[in-house]
Amino acid sequence: MRKAVNSQKDSQQNNKKSLTNMQMPRFKQVCVIGLGLIGASLAQAIKDNGLSERLVAVDRHAPSIEEAIQHGLLDAGSSALSDVVAGSDLIVIAVPVQAVQAVLVDIKTAMDNGQLATDCIISDVCSTKVNIIDAAKSVFGSLPTGLVPAHPIAGAENSGYHARRATLFANHSVIICELPTTSIVAIDKLRWLWEAVGASVMAMEAEHHDSILAHTSHLPHLLAFNLVEQLASHDDNLDMFRYAAGGFRDFSRIAASDPKMWHDIFFANESAIVSALDEYGVYLQTMRQLIIDKDSTALMGLLGRAQAARRHFGHMLASTPYTDTSAMSASYNITPSNTVSGTITIPGDKSISHRSIMLGSLATGITHVTGFLEGEDALATLQAFRDMGVTIEGPDNGKLTIHGVGMNGLKPSKTPLYMGNSGTSMRLLSGILAAQPFDSVLTGDTSLNKRPMERVAAPLRAMGAVIQSTGHSGTAPLSITGRDTVGKPLQGAEYDMPVASAQVKSCLLLAGLWSEGTTTVIQPEVSRDHTERMLSAFGYPVTVEGNRISVTGGGQLTGGDIAVPADISSAAFFMVAAAISQGSELTLTQVGINPTRTGIIDILKLMQADISLSNETHVGGEPVADITIRGSNLVGIEIPEHLVPLAIDEFPVLFIAASCAKGRTVLTGAKELRVKESDRIAVMAEGLRTLGIDCTVTEDGLIIEGQGTESENGEVNNSQPVFGGGHIISHHDHRIAMSFAVASLRASEQITIEGVETVNTSFPGFAELANHIGMSIQVDSTNA
Ligand code: S3P
Repeated sequence: MRKAVNSQKDSQQNNKKSLTNMQMPRFKQVCVIGLGLIGASLAQAIKDNGLSERLVAVDRHAPSIEEAIQHGLLDAGSSALSDVVAGSDLIVIAVPVQAVQAVLVDIKTAMDNGQLATDCIISDVCSTKVNIIDAAKSVFGSLPTGLVPAHPIAGAENSGYHARRATLFANHSVIICELPTTSIVAIDKLRWLWEAVGASVMAMEAEHHDSILAHTSHLPHLLAFNLVEQLASHDDNLDMFRYAAGGFRDFSRIAASDPKMWHDIFFANESAIVSALDEYGVYLQTMRQLIIDKDSTALMGLLGRAQAARRHFGHMLASTPYTDTSAMSASYNITPSNTVSGTITIPGDKSISHRSIMLGSLATGITHVTGFLEGEDALATLQAFRDMGVTIEGPDNGKLTIHGVGMNGLKPSKTPLYMGNSGTSMRLLSGILAAQPFDSVLTGDTSLNKRPMERVAAPLRAMGAVIQSTGHSGTAPLSITGRDTVGKPLQGAEYDMPVASAQVKSCLLLAGLWSEGTTTVIQPEVSRDHTERMLSAFGYPVTVEGNRISVTGGGQLTGGDIAVPADISSAAFFMVAAAISQGSELTLTQVGINPTRTGIIDILKLMQADISLSNETHVGGEPVADITIRGSNLVGIEIPEHLVPLAIDEFPVLFIAASCAKGRTVLTGAKELRVKESDRIAVMAEGLRTLGIDCTVTEDGLIIEGQGTESENGEVNNSQPVFGGGHIISHHDHRIAMSFAVASLRASEQITIEGVETVNTSFPGFAELANHIGMSIQVDSTNA
């Protein structure tokens, strides 16, 4: 059945092309049967948009027909189909589900006596579909070629003819059932009609439609009616309703809808509703038992998962990030300022936050995390583990409590795991999931789904993983087959990494935890080592011999406390801000200075920045220090290639520093920048040129002609603007947006930056903090 639908769809695609090339056909006469809210709204939309030469309707309620004719909506109408249907090329049945069969009988009679062509398109708007098809089979014997069952997912608080609105379907979905028996022309014409009234049309098989609707619409209505009935049957029902608060009002709102309609729907979709109800009963019993058992962890887990899932699905469907949806399209308007000063704390490290969730979830016992970065990327990892059954309390002001499930405790997620914009989540998780007994699918937003994933998929395959990058060119969604299906565990392997990527290294080491034997990763250059450090902190042995890192499968992780230090990659924006502006002095407290991350400090020092570290200590196995930076005269340099992986995320803002330096800065060996959240070489070059900086793009880097000047006495001068003003497009890359914000400290005019909503992926609160130290960023948010 599915095959037939698909192959038909292909030919429909071709057919659609030819139909759109020609002028799309309008209808000669549409006949709407039933002038309730949906039927009358569709009639009005057809009329207003001129989609049919004639419009007629049938309704048992004579006054509605009379009014509709008086309003000029209809050319003709009657309470009997046979009076008006002759010559119609589309009939839309908009009557209650239980009345559809009788209407079909009338339609058949009209066909039999020649009033209607046998290929006339017959559609409906009912919220169940299998019963419509069954009714048509029993009336016509075999399904007519014009039958296209449909269901607009639209409604309103009020019902009836007077509540009609021509715009009711705009931006709503219409599900249509493309039956194998239906002619392609009929499907195309019906699609065209719904799209012409503003709806988006999707095809679905009838059984699937009925099951989905049973769960998402019919069951909630049934429960609402039932709860009101339950409360009403109490002796003290007056008090019950008198003191009912918002929760009851919200829950019972849909029980105000038409009982007759719901009565009909419940019978029409009997089997799907009964199975949804049975499933609901199981869940209700589970919850009941958790309360009786006082199982606080499991109850918190269930409630937390449900709350997060509600938000998560909303974002997943919209393919947008997690935080404030009102900020879906945001821009910065920045007025130049000259100096920054103060002592500030930067949010937690993104890389360590991801790993705290992953290892905390896989550990035995409880892990308390402090300083967790509540940015969208780390929240995507958190949600993924919740989806796999891990109870995680928080985040509450950077604090999390993770109830570890142990190495074998993850459960399959019921839906694809959504990684948002986060490459780290997707790559590290693919290593963990490749080793699990169950199948998984990993997907992300539009940008993440364009980033290379074969760099992890290929070496995982060499360990025996069954993993498919199902996107266009080695990209996500990733489909991973569980070990239970494959039949044996992953095998330890030795992998010589072509690029120094901490994500690839971490992915393979994590897969190695479940592999038979030893997994060794050899990196060409040092890359961040948070995975190695945290594994050790959780009691898992890791062997590091120079650039060879090995783990042996079969060990355990033990939960503990993790304090996440401030993220040096976020601190980098303010380090450069202070370094390029005269008279600045900024202290950033307790920033992570893991030597695999301090490339930014080394490079800025080579550029003669004034940077000093104090209060050096260790937090949760990671070195931290207060970093103080003062404005100074920077000079251009050739950036040593071995520092590239140690500053990989900091180059966008280092390019801003290089633009302010005296002389040329040359970056080579940084091809990786082309496959980050954007092509950071191309995108930065574009923005720098917009602001008047001369730069040359090379295959693996960038050459920047610094604009630092000397004053008359021969000293370099760091107060003159080097950038003009202009409009920057961040290509939705958080680090590009923040880097150009920093440029405003040496700009002559206003800078606007478009697409800054992704700043929330790594640095929520960036603009507020920047303004706190003396910058002047105005955030403009618009609903996308
Ligand atoms: C990260 C590694 C780096 C970095 C990313 C975070 C990590 O990516 O750019 O922001 O947490 O392991 P690559 O491994 O692709 O260089």
